Amino acid sequence: EKGGYDYFMLKEIAEQPKAVADTLLGRIDAGGSLTLDELRISAAELREVDKVVIVACGTAFHAGLIAKYAIEHWTRIPCEVELASEFRYRDPILGARSLVIAISQSGETMDTLMALRHAREQGSKVLAICNTNGSTIPRESDAVLYTHAGPEVAVASTKAFLTQLVACYLVALYLGQVRGTKWGDEIGAVIRDLSHISGEVERVLETMEPVRELARSLADKNTVLFLGRHVGYPVALEGALKLKELAYMHAEGFAAGELKHGPIALIEPDLPVVVVVPSPRGRSVLHDKIVSNIQEIRARGARTIVIAEEGDEAVVPYADHLVRIPATPTLLQPLVATVPLQVFACELATARGNEVDQPRNLAKSVTVE
Ligand code: M6R
Repeated sequence: EKGGYDYFMLKEIAEQPKAVADTLLGRIDAGGSLTLDELRISAAELREVDKVVIVACGTAFHAGLIAKYAIEHWTRIPCEVELASEFRYRDPILGARSLVIAISQSGETMDTLMALRHAREQGSKVLAICNTNGSTIPRESDAVLYTHAGPEVAVASTKAFLTQLVACYLVALYLGQVRGTKWGDEIGAVIRDLSHISGEVERVLETMEPVRELARSLADKNTVLFLGRHVGYPVALEGALKLKELAYMHAEGFAAGELKHGPIALIEPDLPVVVVVPSPRGRSVLHDKIVSNIQEIRARGARTIVIAEEGDEAVVPYADHLVRIPATPTLLQPLVATVPLQVFACELATARGNEVDQPRNLAKSVTVE
């Protein structure tokens, strides 16, 4: 059942192009419009939404952090993202016009379930983004958008994450569509790129051998840091989470702009630092800033592992290791940038002799609060 792979995680990483394509299937029509009729919240209700609140845990929370950038940019509706375990304990401000999105692979995560119950008690509509048909979270929600990743067995979430991102992009674009947000060239281009993105994920997978080799060479390290900006920041958090749960290493993700406010003190000779570089074409200011961050940490001896778009030459002089990813629109970059981080964590865990599919102390679905 592992389909020839040593671990479910490897199989699930490899299945990502299909999982992404399946999650898009039938949801974008030939004219480039979105058809999400399965969403049981009417267009009229969606037009009334004045705030989106996303609740989730772990990897699903990271998908939510990325969704915030897309929702706010494409729809101009304010969006908050909160750890489901914190949500109901702080008396959040919710009403009938708030749309709460609960993201969960398993659909059984107790923290997320309690957050959605709390939201419904306040009169808010809840939309679940879920991978498991008929599980508790979609059953208790007003509407559901299923991700079509297929069963995810490995404790570390991989293909579910990519499909959660796709579902979030679809919801954001759909909200924009029903609300008549100015449908500029950018949105059309994004929808086109989204419909080709599974091929780009496939291309990334084909070039992972050097990442595996690098991971093996770092098996005796204690700490790895991850830096990113904009949507690359949640990608950095996700890279660090994967490494914690699989390799049992100290791994932390930072917003690169925060480096100078503290974390730069951690930089010491030979410390591996993974940097997710934004596209030089999109928000080029951020690109330039992150290039100077890479210079700064390298000057302090860090071993820089740079994930950058093909054709980005500015990073070359400062990268001890360079991982190329295909060019994508800024907001879609996490779909390709996360893949090397999954492979990196999986290989490092294997090199350290850890049980990849079943890391210590963890369960696939966390059904207690
Ligand atoms: O099933 P869920 O998506 O609700 O699970 C949420 C988290 O428990 C989950 O993403 C966890 O962080 C994974 N082990 C991460 O790889």
